[in-house]
Amino acid sequence: MNRDITHKVILITGATDGMGLETARALAKHNPRLVLVGRNATKGQRVVEELKQESGNQAIEFMQADLSAQQDIRELVKTFKSKYDRLDVLINNAGAYIPVKQLSADGFEMTFALNHLGYFLLTNLLLDELTRSAPSRIINISSAAHASARFDINNLNSEGKYSPWNAYATSKLENLYFTYELADRLKGTDVTVNAVHPGLVNSQFGKQGSGPFLAIFRLMQKFIGKTAANGAKTSIYLALADEVEGITGSYFANEKMAQSSKVSQDREMGRKLWEMSEKMTRIN
Ligand SMILES: NC(=O)c1ccc[n+]([C@@H]2O[C@H](COP(=O)([O-])OP(=O)(O)OC[C@H]3O[C@@H](n4cnc5c(N)ncnc54)[C@H](OP(=O)(O)O)[C@@H]3O)[C@@H](O)[C@H]2O)c1
Repeated sequence: MNRDITHKVILITGATDGMGLETARALAKHNPRLVLVGRNATKGQRVVEELKQESGNQAIEFMQADLSAQQDIRELVKTFKSKYDRLDVLINNAGAYIPVKQLSADGFEMTFALNHLGYFLLTNLLLDELTRSAPSRIINISSAAHASARFDINNLNSEGKYSPWNAYATSKLENLYFTYELADRLKGTDVTVNAVHPGLVNSQFGKQGSGPFLAIFRLMQKFIGKTAANGAKTSIYLALADEVEGITGSYFANEKMAQSSKVSQDREMGRKLWEMSEKMTRIN
């Protein structure tokens, strides 16, 4: 059974393409107030018009932010708070595979800045709204790729030789450390937080860059990957299903609870990463 989300406020990041867009498309039909976040305003407005027309739901708006940039996240939250006094579901979905090393506006390696610090800062800045709206839900899109990460807490910025796959896998492991630590911190609040592995999906993900690894990855996406609409199913399930009410600190795949790697369950590491992320985002 699905819960009633009419007029509830849902914010989805990376909603201009791929699974974020398909999650928004599916949820729009249930008549929540939807805030779609992305970096490209033209694409964002186009998506808003498309979803309004398709769903008949007029309470859909776009907010622009480059989620790898902390100033953008702070401004996004300011704008959001000036328009909404509650937040019922936050879906941290925007993420990318960065083939060549880049630095974010704040000087962090881009994969880490967008895929981990972006989730961390946005969520922390919206915790008051989420707590006020409890029972509320946070959904973090991670990946089974987390299991292949060679994680080094002393090298969060990928100094030295850059491996794009390791930077990506590490960021998805960090999504799990973040999810489990946040679930602990939110005990007793009725705000739940869970992580998702969507499966291999033929979206825009991995379409930037070249080389043999990406060529094989794209072939796999094309021949065995899910559509973005199918990849979005577990996020949609976690936003809507009655049966996950109260479930927190878990990892889901194929709309079922799953087991994440042993390394991801190292709570001491999760706490350390939290403390370092607090400093890097200056939230404390
Ligand atoms: N695809 C897979 O096989 C797969 C597997 C496991 C996990 N995942 C995870 O699933 C999530 C969604 O990925 P997807 O496959 O749907 O990818 P996608 O098709 O590339 O969509 C990514 C979305 O994030 C947005 N985005 C990227 N960088 C951004 C930034 N700096 N600021 C704001 N928004 C930004 C994109 O905006 P634009 O429209 O402007 O590009 C787009 O809306 C990611 O967290 C990814 O790690 C994907």
